[in-house]
Formats: sequence, structure tokens, C-alpha cells
Amino acid sequence: MADASTLAALRAAAFAAMDNAYAPYSKFRVGAALLTADGQVVAGCNVENSSYPAGTCAERVAVGAAVARGLRSFTHVVVATAAETPTPPCGICRQVLQEFAPGCRVISVTRGGAEAQWDLSELLPSPFMPSSLPRE
Ligand code: THU
Repeated sequence: MADASTLAALRAAAFAAMDNAYAPYSKFRVGAALLTADGQVVAGCNVENSSYPAGTCAERVAVGAAVARGLRSFTHVVVATAAETPTPPCGICRQVLQEFAPGCRVISVTRGGAEAQWDLSELLPSPFMPSSLPRE
């Protein structure tokens, strides 16, 4: 379990990334901040595109940024939005989180101060996993 100041830093990083979101089409800005197993914070925001399907969610941008830094194990992810109620990660992001953070705690926060939390296993109860692939 992360301590309160670590979680506060994670929330702050998620909101800071949210402020950098590129979401001119949906206008739904999202920030995500990962806490790595060794205590580092890596953030991402959603990056939309005029070719709509080319856009990427904040959670996947954060995972990509972390992996590019050689960080592949996460214990917590904070998702920040300005929505009325806290929003969980989309299905694709749940699967991507599962790859690197199977036991992670997902915390969703809003600008208004609302918060919801889940274990990733609640959000993705029967994941496809690396071990699901047949071995040669
Ligand atoms: N979005 C995220 O960044 N994370 C989520 O978990 C859900 C959706 C983004 C994708 C798109 O840019 C916008 O929110 C509206 O779907």
C-alpha cells in the first residue's frame, strides 16, 4: 500500500498531465499517472487525432512512457478527469494495464474531488495473459 503523500503526488501528476491532454474532438481530457514498483511516477494524457481511431487514451500513453524508460511494473494508477463522476479505464486500457500491473489498484479522481477505486482484477476479471499464449 502506498502512503498518503505518495498517493497525493500521484494524483497531482495525473491532474498535471490532464492539463496537457490533447482532446480537441471529444473535449474529454484525461490524465493518468502510474506508480512504479520502485516508487517512480510516470504520467500520460490522452492524445487525440483528426483521424479519430488514431487517438490514444491517457493510460496507454503513460504505460508507453514508462516502458520507454525501462519501467515495467506498476502498483497504482490514478486516472484524472473533469467528469461529474469518476470514470474507470476503458476496456483496451484495462488489458494494457494487465500486462504490466496485474495486481494494481486503479484510482479515479475528478476535478470536483470525487474518487472511486478498484482492483484491476475487479475491472478485468478474466484477462487474456501472456501465459494464455501457446508455447512453441
Ligand atoms: N479516454 C482516456 O484517455 N482514458 C479512458 O480511460 C477513457 C477514455 C479518452 C479517449 C478519448 O480521447 C476521450 O477520452 C474520449 O473517449
